[in-house]
This record gives sequence, structure tokens and C-alpha cells, in this order.
Amino acid sequence: MNVKTVGVVGCGLMGSGIVEVLAKNGYNVIVREVNDDFLQKGLARVHASTQKAVDRNKLTADARKEALTRIVGTTKLEDLNICDYVIEAAVENLNLKKDIFERLDAITRPEVILASNTSSLSIAEMAAKTHKPDKVLGMHFFNPVPVMPLLEIVRSFMTSEDTYQTSRALGESLGKKVIVAKDLPGFIVNALLVPYQLDAIRFYENGLASKEDIDTGVRLGLNHPMGPLELCDFVGVDTVLYIADEMYAETKDPRYAAPPLLRRMVAAGYHGRKTGKGFYDYSNQAKS
Ligand code: 3HC
Repeated sequence: MNVKTVGVVGCGLMGSGIVEVLAKNGYNVIVREVNDDFLQKGLARVHASTQKAVDRNKLTADARKEALTRIVGTTKLEDLNICDYVIEAAVENLNLKKDIFERLDAITRPEVILASNTSSLSIAEMAAKTHKPDKVLGMHFFNPVPVMPLLEIVRSFMTSEDTYQTSRALGESLGKKVIVAKDLPGFIVNALLVPYQLDAIRFYENGLASKEDIDTGVRLGLNHPMGPLELCDFVGVDTVLYIADEMYAETKDPRYAAPPLLRRMVAAGYHGRKTGKGFYDYSNQAKS
């Protein structure tokens, strides 16, 4: 299938990153947000990130200008009806995503593939809301999308070989290294990442080490760019809890049981960098 125009549903942290890599790699993009305020914030993120790429000599000023002209924003899902491929990157709520898939099914051409950037939710459940479950799969990008080289493709038991191959080609055309996961809780990366993050939180909660020493230990002892608690703040403490709860609900595996501190932090609004506080305080820094 010849993919020229890609629709992206959601222009948050992940959606705006996906929009950016698509536009930089020559695709026309139609991105939909629920209201104009969210849309403008999302597009501003794309403008800022592509400017950063220019500042870091990763993109020329001309290529940036060209990429930005390929992006069209809308608040109407129906405007995605001309797209050749659609990636959903709305908030992590299964009912909301199922509703979006049902609507996308109604407005897109029958051959158009519908992908979800979900980090842990069931692809099969979203696919079941459409008349083309063979054309539904997961395209799980990593944050920050313009920088992280990985794309996790998630095949449900209904995803066809054609859908997979087309999606793999699309991902590779974005410069991503593709890995293939089954439609099981956490896929590959989050199935490994989440227990590690929860262990680090328990370690800290139980007073076994300071948060700084946990993070420094992993950064300098294992050469990770961020320690586990810093990474929680980066991806969103609320997101970590959400994914853990989803994985626990489905598997009842105690490795995915959220420690009380995590739940209390989320309840108190300590969501990480985006709210200015998480395991660390970011109130004096630009939010990211
Ligand atoms: N566009 C293009 N390139 C950019 C860029 C942009 N907007 N911003 C930065 N870069 C490039 C820089 O030029 C640099 O490249 P270089 O190494 O070739 O010089 C590189 O990206 C690193 O950038 P910085 O020097 O500005 O930043 P840091 O070195 O501080 O790294 C980081 C920032 C990339 C976020 C790093 O800390 C990191 O990798 N952290 C871990 C991130 C991670 O694990 N993400 C996955 C989270 S899990 C997930 O997403 C799954 C979900 O389901 C929860």
C-alpha cells in the first residue's frame, strides 16, 4: 500500500512526537486533538522540538520549514477520512480508544490500517470494534519519539501479515528499529520496565536507599541515561501507575502490583516533570 498521508489521533507528548517524525520523513500528516487549545499546545511542541533539532544540527532549517508545511491540525476526527494510515495516540483509556477505533473504522477506507500507540492496552479489544480487525495493530513509540530509535510493533492474533509488513515498512522509513511483540500485557519493553520501576519505588519506600543513590547507581553502574525514579518522572508517575494497574488487572502477577507510595503520589498530583513535581522537584525548570 502506498502511504502518503498519515492521520494521528492526539497531539500530546507521544502524538506530537509521532507527528514530527512522520513530517520530517516526508509524510503528510493530519493530526486531530479534542479542542483547539490542546491542538495549539501540541503543534507548539512540534515547532519547539524541530527547532531544537535544527539547533543540534539534526535537521536543516529548510527541511524543518518543509516538514512543518506537511502538518495540518484539526479538531474533527472526520478530517482523517482521506488518510492512507492512521495512528491513534490518545490518552491511555481503553473505552476511549475503543470508541476512537469504532469511529475511525466508519470514516476510513476499508484498506486503511489503524494502529494504536498504546503502551499496554489490548490491541485485540480495539480491533474488535472495527470491521477490519486484520488491519489493526500496535505501533508503540518511545518517549521522546524524535530521539528514541525503537518502534515496538504489536500484532494481535487477528493482525494480517500484510498489515504487519506495511507497518514495519512505515516504521523503518521513519528511521526506527522495529521489534515485534505479541498482544500481551506490557508487550516487550514495558513488561520488563514496569517491574524494574516498581522495584525501585519499593526500594525507596522501604528506606533501603535514597532516591538519589538509586538513580545514580543505575546511571553510573549500568550506564542507563536515567535512573528508574528519574525515568518515572520523565514518562509520568501517573502513566507508570496506569500501566502497572492495567498489567496487574490482567495478569494478577505481584510483580506488577503498584506500591502504596506510587498510588499516593499520583493522588497528590506528583505526576513528574509535567506537574513540576514527582520523585524530584522541577518547579524551577521548564516543564517537558
Ligand atoms: N530532535 C532531534 N534530536 C534531538 C532532539 C530533538 N528534539 N532533542 C535532542 N536530540 C538529540 C541530541 O542532539 C542528542 O544527540 P547526540 O547524542 O547525537 O548528540 C540526543 O538527542 C540526546 O539529547 P540531549 O543531549 O539534549 O539530552 P540528554 O543527553 O539529556 O538525553 C534523553 C535526553 C534522550 C531523554 C535521555 O535522558 C534518555 O534517553 N532518557 C531515557 C529515555 C527513555 O528511557 N525513554 C523511554 C521511556 S519508556 C516509554 O516511552 C514507553 C511508554 O510506553 C511509557
